[in-house]
Amino acid sequence: MHKRAKIYLDRQFQIGEVDKRIYSSMIEHMERVVYGGIYEPDHPKADENGFRQDVMDLVKEMKIPMIRYPGGNFLSGYNWEDGIGPVEERPVRLDLAWIGEEPNLIGTDEYLKWAEKTGTEVNMAVNLGTRGADAARNLVEYCNYPKGTYWSDLRRKNGAEEPYKIKTWCLGNEMDGTWQICHKTPEEYGRLAVESGRLMKKVDKDIELVLCGSSNTTISTFPSWDMKVLEEAYDVADYISLHNYFSVVDNTMENFLAGNLELERQIETITAVCDAVKAKVRSDKTINLSFDEWGIWNREETANRAKWKFDWSDKNAVSEGSYSFADALLTGGILISFINHCDRVKIACQAQLVNHLSLFNCVKGGPVWKQTIFYPFFYTSLYGRGTALRPVTESPCYSSRDFEQVPVLETAAVEDSEGKMLTLFLLNRDMNDGLATDIVLRGFEDMEEMEHIVYCCQDLEAVNTANEPDKVVPCKKAPGSFENGIYRTELEKCSWHMIRFQRKK
Ligand code: AHR
Repeated sequence: MHKRAKIYLDRQFQIGEVDKRIYSSMIEHMERVVYGGIYEPDHPKADENGFRQDVMDLVKEMKIPMIRYPGGNFLSGYNWEDGIGPVEERPVRLDLAWIGEEPNLIGTDEYLKWAEKTGTEVNMAVNLGTRGADAARNLVEYCNYPKGTYWSDLRRKNGAEEPYKIKTWCLGNEMDGTWQICHKTPEEYGRLAVESGRLMKKVDKDIELVLCGSSNTTISTFPSWDMKVLEEAYDVADYISLHNYFSVVDNTMENFLAGNLELERQIETITAVCDAVKAKVRSDKTINLSFDEWGIWNREETANRAKWKFDWSDKNAVSEGSYSFADALLTGGILISFINHCDRVKIACQAQLVNHLSLFNCVKGGPVWKQTIFYPFFYTSLYGRGTALRPVTESPCYSSRDFEQVPVLETAAVEDSEGKMLTLFLLNRDMNDGLATDIVLRGFEDMEEMEHIVYCCQDLEAVNTANEPDKVVPCKKAPGSFENGIYRTELEKCSWHMIRFQRKK
């Protein structure tokens, strides 16, 4: 017999507006993300700038609003000036983060052109590893100052007459990590961030700044790092960053599938830290959260990366691999958690877009293929926009390695801005049973079911590959019953769902 669950939704009980930037991604100069990913000049589908149009089309299809660039760990050794001006004059540099050679064929102007063509906003990051305040303020001047100064006129000479008006800027990357180029103590980083941020905001008062928070929750300095850097730099910051990657390796499947509960704990901890510092520094400003790197380390990429020598004999090594269906379920769960924390999480960047821990991969000279994780991301990005409702859920629970109570059912609900559509995202992470689910929809009685997409697969380890790109794909499900404001459906074991309702015509 199936287990039972019940969800209550009321049109009046709202969490807040979903910031569409929670459906952002990331592009770093590493592996085949830029070269061989977005840029492949010899590809039959390359445009006049060498950018793959099939990749651009997919980014548009997913409606990705913003992409963080150019890193990642790469950022902390990057000289942005190497990537501007005539391409043939640009230096090839050693990339000490990933032990490779950076040809600088793609730099600020090329990337911004790509972003314009794909309709994505840029979340630009400044190097606070080997560089600092001066390089950071110059980059803001290059990108955002209209004209008449050294850097703004250089941008115009390089072909961009109008300023790029980049709004969101990251102050460095993972500066708490000992792996980071020029890793810093919180006091050192906090001072550098506040001084850099002040200069950047002097150049352009309209920009918003993201302070580097902890790189993960297992690092010993979590969350005291966040507390200290906020104390130093509260004035200039608008957001603090969170990063987290989940893995089924050295984990149990039950615990892995509950990974979004760890993410929620992390969000709630850092929210509390932000508000404690707000009180301490007696500020009226609220710092929001930018989860600007999140993702899953799949089995294959973990195994491939373990073979890396991290020396020059092995330069430009790649770790590419395939995501499993279980990875897709957790991806769906994480996106549900972001919607349910939309009052504080305003930005979230899935890492990364293409070829590394990616939504989709590119075959050299060939097609793009979609990873399993593509689908929950795609549907949530398209339809998870509007006002998030606060679901109350009665669900069976199980216990796992890190959690005493894991509800098998996760729910998020979003009403669109015109009040014409209600979309539910559901995850049943029960590995043994389906779930007979009743959904009470108060204030939505005049709606009807429009579509139900189900994503389920008997084999949690099943993957898509270049040769079998459509092995694990979602499909449409027959309508449930909807009477007197109660919608009834069955959620298969280990399944993710999107159910859309529309107002009756
Ligand atoms: O794999 C992406 C890397 O993970 C990023 O460069 C870094 O910020 C994170 O540790």
